[in-house]
Amino acid sequence: VSTPSSEADGAMPVALRWMGDDGAAGRLEVLDQTALPTECRWNVCPDVAAVVEAIKSLRVRGAPAIGIAGAYGMAVAAGEAVARRLDPRATRELLAEHAESLASARPTAVNLRWAVDRCRGALADLPATAPAEACRARLLDVAREIHEEDRRLCAAIGAHGADRLPPGDVLTHCNTGCLATGGAGTALAVITTAWDRGRRFMVYADETRPLFQGARLTAWELAQRGVPVTVLVDAAAGHLLATGRIAACIVGADRIAANGDTANKIGTYSVAVLARHHGVPFYVAAPSSTFDFQLPSGSQIPIEHRQPEEITRGFGRQTVPSGVKVYNPAFDVTPHELIAGFITERGVITPPFVDNLRSRLGAG
Ligand code: MRU
Repeated sequence: VSTPSSEADGAMPVALRWMGDDGAAGRLEVLDQTALPTECRWNVCPDVAAVVEAIKSLRVRGAPAIGIAGAYGMAVAAGEAVARRLDPRATRELLAEHAESLASARPTAVNLRWAVDRCRGALADLPATAPAEACRARLLDVAREIHEEDRRLCAAIGAHGADRLPPGDVLTHCNTGCLATGGAGTALAVITTAWDRGRRFMVYADETRPLFQGARLTAWELAQRGVPVTVLVDAAAGHLLATGRIAACIVGADRIAANGDTANKIGTYSVAVLARHHGVPFYVAAPSSTFDFQLPSGSQIPIEHRQPEEITRGFGRQTVPSGVKVYNPAFDVTPHELIAGFITERGVITPPFVDNLRSRLGAG
């Protein structure tokens, strides 16, 4: 597993990296998260098709990380234009085509389209006569900027959230750490920052069916860092909360609408309802790139539905009778009423969300 770009992050694994130089020998590599926790395998993405495949198949995953992958994917796209010796016009056509296939590789996390749009904006600022090499150089700069920016946002989210976390054990869902972002994570950065500051607690990690991001990835990250973690099946969250042991629930987000309704990994909504029932605060940690002020509420957030095989033959063994229908939404929407606050790089934002999110995050 690769070491991080910054000393401040310690020996933190990274989800993706640009290797080699800025020219033809440069390449994007992703840590193949489908192989974790048993194998640390780096996959080279030689072309855009490979980047799209890595995003769709969750080799790279987590809202901020797929945004970063999308941005590096644009640099890979320009590399294709260089290799094919395309003229400036054909280069732009190829980039426009690849931009759309990258941005639409997964529909729910707004970070992906946001990052690709930022690349499109940088291209629009270049003269139309710019050769493919110039496009590649500019796109690689933008991807690196987005990557580095996300590392800083994660650190800020961790610092703001660690102050807010009440004493006691925490429950989290899915994976929101260094594997899901360009830095220490969102919800998991809050948890690890609190730990690094000397707070002591148990992290309860929902296994997060059907693809086990909690069991395979969150538990792996925390175990690597020496933070105590206990994995539970998603269905045990209610029983755990009923014991009174959990002081706070904290999760990440894939897209947050203007009113605070939050799309996150399937099962998040159930945790929020249970938390409310048991009087436990439920926090969402996310950078400003995850907020979508164009959508007034969560009902407009596109929800990805994935292949039935993830449920019928998850990890190899058939567990559903052949021919039976499967309902497999990858995300759900937690209504803003259930959320105690958003932990962002600009601090913790509390209700009323419609006004406070807009004014604190500077949108619109
Ligand atoms: O399908 P995934 O694994 O990409 O889903 C990821 C999540 O739901 C995360 O909680 C979210 O992206 C926040 S990551 C900091």
